[in-house]
Amino acid sequence: MAPIKAALLGFGTVGQGVYEALKTHREQLKSVLGEEVIIEAILVKDGAKKRDVDEHILVTTDFDEVLNIPDLQIVFEAIVGEEPGFTYLSKAIEKGCRVITANKVMFARHGKTLLEKAEAAGVSVGYEATTAGGTPIIRSISQLLQVNDILSVEAILNGTSNYILTNMREKGSAFEDVLKTAQDLGYAEADPVNDVEGFDAFYKLMILSELSFGSSPNWDEVERKGITEVSSEQIEVFTRWGYKVKHLARIRSDSGLFTASVKPVLVDSEHPLYGVEDVQNAIMVETSLAGKVTVQGAGAGKLPTASAMVEDLTYVLQSHSGAAVRKKQSVLKVDSSSSESGSSSLVGEYVVIGSSVGFNGSDDIQLLKQDVRGDLVYLLIRCHEETAKSLKANSELVVYEVAGKLKPAEVKVEDRDLVLQRVINL
Ligand SMILES: NC(=O)c1ccc[n+]([C@@H]2O[C@H](COP(=O)([O-])OP(=O)(O)OC[C@H]3O[C@@H](n4cnc5c(N)ncnc54)[C@H](OP(=O)(O)O)[C@@H]3O)[C@@H](O)[C@H]2O)c1
Repeated sequence: MAPIKAALLGFGTVGQGVYEALKTHREQLKSVLGEEVIIEAILVKDGAKKRDVDEHILVTTDFDEVLNIPDLQIVFEAIVGEEPGFTYLSKAIEKGCRVITANKVMFARHGKTLLEKAEAAGVSVGYEATTAGGTPIIRSISQLLQVNDILSVEAILNGTSNYILTNMREKGSAFEDVLKTAQDLGYAEADPVNDVEGFDAFYKLMILSELSFGSSPNWDEVERKGITEVSSEQIEVFTRWGYKVKHLARIRSDSGLFTASVKPVLVDSEHPLYGVEDVQNAIMVETSLAGKVTVQGAGAGKLPTASAMVEDLTYVLQSHSGAAVRKKQSVLKVDSSSSESGSSSLVGEYVVIGSSVGFNGSDDIQLLKQDVRGDLVYLLIRCHEETAKSLKANSELVVYEVAGKLKPAEVKVEDRDLVLQRVINL
């Protein structure tokens, strides 16, 4: 057999990582694939920039030059944004290339189309690197959990947010200070909006939804919140009560009703994602047979992301069709107002923060804990989801859910007398 010819689209952090990994793991790849993988061309935006690559490699800004390489088998894509990545990969697939991408923004929007094109062309698409970097979640779901139904996915999908929340808690620092450190360390972009406002985690959740349920919610209906409203004072109270605040991306299917959100929630030490700290990512998948399966690892970075792309090589070369999408269930409805279930007969736990918080005339609120910090009252309560919704709708209150605490309504809400002296009408 001849060497396997490959091209790299993009030569930034990830592209350079793939180039390096192919060199340092040449022998391992050869023993797995039976042939060497040779990078023939690299596509970049700025043709004038000096690139430290082998002499034989064509470095170009013209995608057609890449596509015209005879017997090109593999196209790695690590450029930014929906376009031109989608168009380039569509053309590569039409030409019979196997493609491997790290581009989550593009894949969240166009992944389904690319997979369909690949199926029609009889080639495969690798997209492990789009979601949680080097953490092998995509192929764990698509190949190792094919018979199980996926009931829910709950994940920490953005390392920058997780790093900031971890360090705010451990060092007692303010959000802005930890963000600055994260930027100095290269964990956060100069423009951190995608990470700290939850967009990055949202794209990854949509990719996981397509994979797990064969569909994804209407994007506008998914509740998306970042971590910018989490304060160090809040974290101090949560810590005293035994909780950590985590930025969780969640989607579940419950009797045909689907619920999705990306937002900060509280987790206690029983929760599988409680110990996931710093820049780590983790994905917990609740399955029909295997129960809860959690995969944890580096969510980003040059070599972990390159690892996912290079590992995808074996998959795309050894499989003949790109249809790794599970199509077992379809999304019938999305209830974005509730984070864990669409049913209103559930009781959950919530922390409510307000300047003079109280509950008047509700039989549905059980006070579990309270604390006062300056003008702010912190209450840990148990109540029906419906009641929590009305609390969340009150713009004077900040409400955090405690993850994993929703129980059927038969769980009696009692001790109403414990509820509050401070009263305002909600
Ligand atoms: N960084 C990570 O840890 C990570 C992890 C998982 C997934 N990803 C995803 O991987 C992709 C690449 O990320 P990165 O961090 O490597 O980005 P990056 O460092 O900014 O590099 C982007 C590369 O793409 C090239 N490029 C941009 N627009 C192009 C265009 N229109 N045509 C041709 N080339 C173009 C750039 O060319 P020039 O060099 O000429 O500017 C650069 O080489 C993104 O989609 C990102 O979301 C990144």
